[in-house]
Amino acid sequence: MISKDLDLAAKFLEEEEIIGFPTETVYGLAGNIYSEKAIRKIFSVKERPFYNPLIVHIKNGSELEKIATEIPEIAKTLAEKFWPGPLTLLLKKKSSVPDLITAGKPTVAVRVPNHAIALQLLEKLDFPLAAPSANPFGRISPTNAKHVDDYFGNSIKMVLEGGICETGIESTIIGFEGEKVIIYRLGGISLEEIENICGAVKLLNKDDKQPEAPGMLSKHYAPRTSLIFTENLEKELLRFQDQKIGVLSFNNTLEQLPENFVQIILSAEGNLKVAAAKLYETLHQMDQMNLEHIIAEKFPEVGLGRVINDKLRRASQP
Ligand code: TXA
Ligand code: MG
Repeated sequence: MISKDLDLAAKFLEEEEIIGFPTETVYGLAGNIYSEKAIRKIFSVKERPFYNPLIVHIKNGSELEKIATEIPEIAKTLAEKFWPGPLTLLLKKKSSVPDLITAGKPTVAVRVPNHAIALQLLEKLDFPLAAPSANPFGRISPTNAKHVDDYFGNSIKMVLEGGICETGIESTIIGFEGEKVIIYRLGGISLEEIENICGAVKLLNKDDKQPEAPGMLSKHYAPRTSLIFTENLEKELLRFQDQKIGVLSFNNTLEQLPENFVQIILSAEGNLKVAAAKLYETLHQMDQMNLEHIIAEKFPEVGLGRVINDKLRRASQP
């Protein structure tokens, strides 16, 4: 059920049920962080392994001290700059945060979402919300309420309607070693934006084999249709001449496209923010088109283009 009823959403959460809820990045599958019943349900409905921890969503920066401790100065600076917004901080957890949320880790992931309805919902509650992206394990993250409803239907109480997610890709996850900044997952805030504040930072990539950051699992966010990620579109087009192919591009229109090809351009005007916001929505759409393959062109490796490339590279893993 999709509904705009905030009071009903709050009531379900108070009753230790879970719901789909909107954020500016992607929809989340939310439950009371202090309810073992709700948290177990999130893991089971999402088919998520218990070793993969959840993000805690708080209503404002002042709530942070209830969740985390020993907060580095640089973390405070980043929170002031980017909250509410698509930035998740990995911080030492308070003992009151259940181990189930953090998969037994000493750190907790926490953020303030920048979405009016999410914030109104959090205001109504006297507990924060744990929420992973509202997709079954390994599938594309949802960027509208219908995606969530299609994925989970009656196995959750409701999806709180909040329109289309403006950022459209997950939050950027940042951790700390002392005052040193480490990016665990690239998302709605680009590497450049972080480096503007912190100077050069370390970006973990999948070669670093970080068991602590399952968000870095190489296969992730995948459509069901096989996806080919390429810097050489011409070559791929020749390879698949006779098949039904979807081409996902940034801003280049292909002339004389054969009939068995469909091209979707994410931002004709060449705006990476617009492209990022449409990425998952478009992959969801293309997944419904009975294509043989999706061929995704490499985006410019700057700003959110780097993030889009990262997501596409993962989605293309066999
Ligand atoms: O934008 C987002 O971050 C969305 C919305 C709903 O807030 N949430 C989201 O959650 O993407 P999820 O669970 O799909 O991805 C969170 C990632 C996971 O890969 C998890 O492993 C990592 O964050 N994570 C959470 N807590 C962690 C911790 N204590 N240490 C290391 N990684 C952690
Ligand atoms: Mg996810």
